[in-house]
Amino acid sequence: MRMRGASLATAAALALLLTACGQDSEGGSEEKKGGAEDATIGIAMPTKSSERWIADGGNVVKSLKGLGYKTQLVYGEDDPDTQVAQIENMITQGVSALVVAAIDNKSLDNVLQQAADADIPVIAYDRLILNSPNVDYYASFDNERVGELQGTYIVEKLGLADGSKKGPFNIELFAGSNDDNNTKYFFGGAMKVLQPYIDKKQLKVRSGQTELNQVTTLRWDGGTAQKRMDDLLTSAYKSERVDAVLSPYDGISIGILSALKSDDYGSKSKPLPVVTGQDAEVASVKSIVSGEQTQTVFKDTRELATFAAGMVDSVLRGEKPEVNDDETYDNGAKVVPAYLLDPVSVDVSNYKKVLVDSGYYTEADLK
Ligand code: GAL
Repeated sequence: MRMRGASLATAAALALLLTACGQDSEGGSEEKKGGAEDATIGIAMPTKSSERWIADGGNVVKSLKGLGYKTQLVYGEDDPDTQVAQIENMITQGVSALVVAAIDNKSLDNVLQQAADADIPVIAYDRLILNSPNVDYYASFDNERVGELQGTYIVEKLGLADGSKKGPFNIELFAGSNDDNNTKYFFGGAMKVLQPYIDKKQLKVRSGQTELNQVTTLRWDGGTAQKRMDDLLTSAYKSERVDAVLSPYDGISIGILSALKSDDYGSKSKPLPVVTGQDAEVASVKSIVSGEQTQTVFKDTRELATFAAGMVDSVLRGEKPEVNDDETYDNGAKVVPAYLLDPVSVDVSNYKKVLVDSGYYTEADLK
């Protein structure tokens, strides 16, 4: 750690020098970013199979370029070994810092040690990396709040929250990948809202599958979720109807909806249940507009990218990045200082305001 501090101080001194050089060569008029000269930042994203990570990758590159950095962006195709190899490769090429959205949060300890040995700071992006002391900062959204928004949406939409309906309503629960640290926060946040209604028997989980380890979806795969929903409908819903499905992510929601539609949900006699989601991916926003998926949680990847890039810049200049949480994210080796952004619940009533008016999507994107 001491070596690391020393090297950060060296980086800061170098940064000052480079700033001075920049001023000289440009006649002193324009201040050059201290950490940016010749620095390439390695960005490891999990997969291109989900649109959100494509947006994240693009936005991180844009933000870093705006600060004067060069970038190298790689996608690990949801394979932990590929991601490790990609990060090793970037370390060998001498990147100045790494921004990593982990595929498997426990697979990166060795490679992050290599990064530390080479004095390369690491920012965990969106997903916390576990069991490694070599994670400098974490930029994400308030992950528990995401789950709370999903749970709250369900109880409000069913009329349980304001007491206008008593139930019981049938609900099934889905969670994300068990190797993603966010999963337990999303599920925990949602269950904080839903559990009291389950306890009062106003919500009933007919499958009986209420524990996190019974409801996870490896690598957030929509096909896996579709298969599980098919099985649940066959085994637990003979004459009964499911009224709500807690889904943690849009790709999973689309899988769940496919299973429901194959079982005749969406017809007049069998309305679709309330189905939540996350990420406001185009397919899901379209689905919301056409009355299928009910809700999603929007996390503005432009903001996240700006914060992550700002963290990189601060660290390379030897400054302390801004954080707003230094308690919650204990990764098993240390509490990682974090900046958490606010997620926003979106449904048909506010998608235009939140997604179109903010310029995240155009009307045409959602046609
Ligand atoms: C999580 C992320 C979610 C969603 C999911 C599947 O880590 O926080 O927003 O994208 O992965 O990609």
